[in-house]
Formats: sequence, structure tokens, C-alpha cells
Amino acid sequence: MDLTIRPRRLRGGETLRKMVRETRMDPSSLIYPIFIKEGTGIREEIPTMPGQYRYSVDTMGEKLDSLQGAGVSSVMFFGIPKHKDELGSGTYDAEGIVQQALRQAGRDFPDMYRITDVCMCEYTSHGHCGVLCGHEVDNDRTLEFLARTALSHAEAGADMVAPSDMMDGRVAAIRSILDEHGLTDMPIMSYAVKYASAFYGPFRDAAGSAPSFGDRKSYQMDYHNSREGVKEALLDVKEGADIIMVKPTMSYLDMVARIKSEVHVPVASYSVSGEYSMIKAGAKLGYIDEEKIICETAASVFRAGCDIYLTYFAEEIAGYMREGKIG
Ligand code: PBG
Repeated sequence: MDLTIRPRRLRGGETLRKMVRETRMDPSSLIYPIFIKEGTGIREEIPTMPGQYRYSVDTMGEKLDSLQGAGVSSVMFFGIPKHKDELGSGTYDAEGIVQQALRQAGRDFPDMYRITDVCMCEYTSHGHCGVLCGHEVDNDRTLEFLARTALSHAEAGADMVAPSDMMDGRVAAIRSILDEHGLTDMPIMSYAVKYASAFYGPFRDAAGSAPSFGDRKSYQMDYHNSREGVKEALLDVKEGADIIMVKPTMSYLDMVARIKSEVHVPVASYSVSGEYSMIKAGAKLGYIDEEKIICETAASVFRAGCDIYLTYFAEEIAGYMREGKIG
């Protein structure tokens, strides 16, 4: 056969395959999302997310410890408060659950990079991501609450804040309150390209944050749209976002690639609860090989252009990277 170019030549053995590998990964890109619940001695497995737990401030250290041991040095905190109210006041309370967790983690794990999710849905009695006016979320009034929340997280020791509410103008509002308080170096990672998605189902179970009426379609994006995501991302960069996040991940890798090429800031991507739970369920049934699927999924995210990967599998992925199974 007269074949000059044979792509298979570079697939002949493991050493060569690794040499020509296009996607290189490192645990420093991983962020683990952790749920902290108000109370003590809590270590509750989340029924819809087997293998994931709700911790209290006094028990979270065991997870932070094992993450650090695996080489994962960044976490994103989600709070589950005891009390919810109309205005989500636990969100910006200096003694709120996330603020307590930040202070404790700062004392016990000074090398752990602490990021916070800035949103109101876990704290509002109605489960929406902002304050209401009738049955509608009041965008402009919500900005003031989000800004206060970001500031209180920063004051409790957050290293980075990540607004996930999808209100218009929130990045500018947060940037301006942080700057007014001398926090000009505090980075903002914006959940800019966040779709209204059924993949958040298990999270809403985990955090008890499902909306009590309606849905989030008036603020989260319609999943039929791609250019709108670029618009959101560019707008947030203009308002001061340092990192742009795409969420969910698995069905949105086109957006990761598009944002990477059109927006010149680091791109983060969040593999959300439903993505985690589907893999867990499929593996439990014996339909798929959990470890191989986790590796393949993680590689696909970085191959698409992601710089920073938020995933409930962070600890496992770091382990597979160390063992040379991916990376
Ligand atoms: C808060 C928030 C949500 C998630 C991250 N931040 C829920 C939502 O928007 O309904 C989802 C994370 C996941 O599903 O793992 N707004």
C-alpha cells in the first residue's frame, strides 16, 4: 500500500501516545464544590448524589484534609442555613454559615484557596435567586443584596467570589462594593454563561433550593442559545469579571470552546450535580465503568479549552492524574 501519511504511526505505544498528547491536565485546575450545613456533627450523604455529603463547620475539615492530600487546593463553598426568609438575610450575615466556614477553613487550612458561590436561592424562603417584587425577581434591588453578600464573604476570608444568580449588572455591583472597601485585588469568577438546566436537579435537593413557584428561566439562559452566552460573557468582562464560567458542562462543551476563543480571560466550567449523579447511577447499575468515564469526561472538558474545572469528582480526578491515568 502506498500510504505516506499514516495517523496510526503516532498511536503505536503508550510512551509515544503520551508524548503527542494535546491535552495536559494538572490538579491545580480543579475546584471542589462543598456543601456546609448549619449545625454540628453533620456528615449527611446526599441521597441524589451518592458519595457527596453535607458537612457542618466542625466536620468539613475531614473532607478538606483529604482534598489537600489528593492535591486539590481550591474549594467552592455552598451554604445550607437553618433559617430562610423572604430577603435571604442569611446570605450576607457576618455570622452566616458560609462566613463561619470561611473563617474556620482559614484557620485550619490556610493553604486552601476559598471561593464562594454568591447567590440567594439557598437562603430565600421562596427559593429564587433574588428578592421578589410580587412573583417576579426584582433585578435591580437584588444587586444590592448580592454586593453585600460578596463583601461579607470577602470580609470573612474568601479569596475569590463567584456570583451565580444571573441578574443583570451584578458583576459591576460586586466590583464596585469590593473596590470601595479597598478589596481591589479580590477576583470575581462570574457564572456568566449559566443555562436554565435540569442538570441542577440533585443540587436543589442537596441544598433545598428549588424554587417554590415558577422556574429560573427569566434569569438563567435558554439552552437553545449560543451567541447570547458570548454576549453575557463579554458584558461581565466589561463589568470587571476576571474569569468566565460555563455551566453546566457536559452538554455545553461547544460553549466552553466558543468562550475560550472569543473571550480573552480564563474559562471555568462546572460539571454540575446532575452530571455527577448520572455517572454514579450508570456505574451503580453496571452499565458504565465509573473510573474510565470520569477520566474521559474530565479530559473532554480540558480538550474543549477549559482552564478551571469545578467538579464533585475533583478528588478522584486528582488521584487519576497522579496515577497517570489521565493528564
Ligand atoms: C445557585 C447555584 C446552583 C448551582 C450552583 N449555584 C443551583 C441553581 O442555579 O439552581 C447548581 C450546581 C449543581 O447543580 O451542582 N444559584
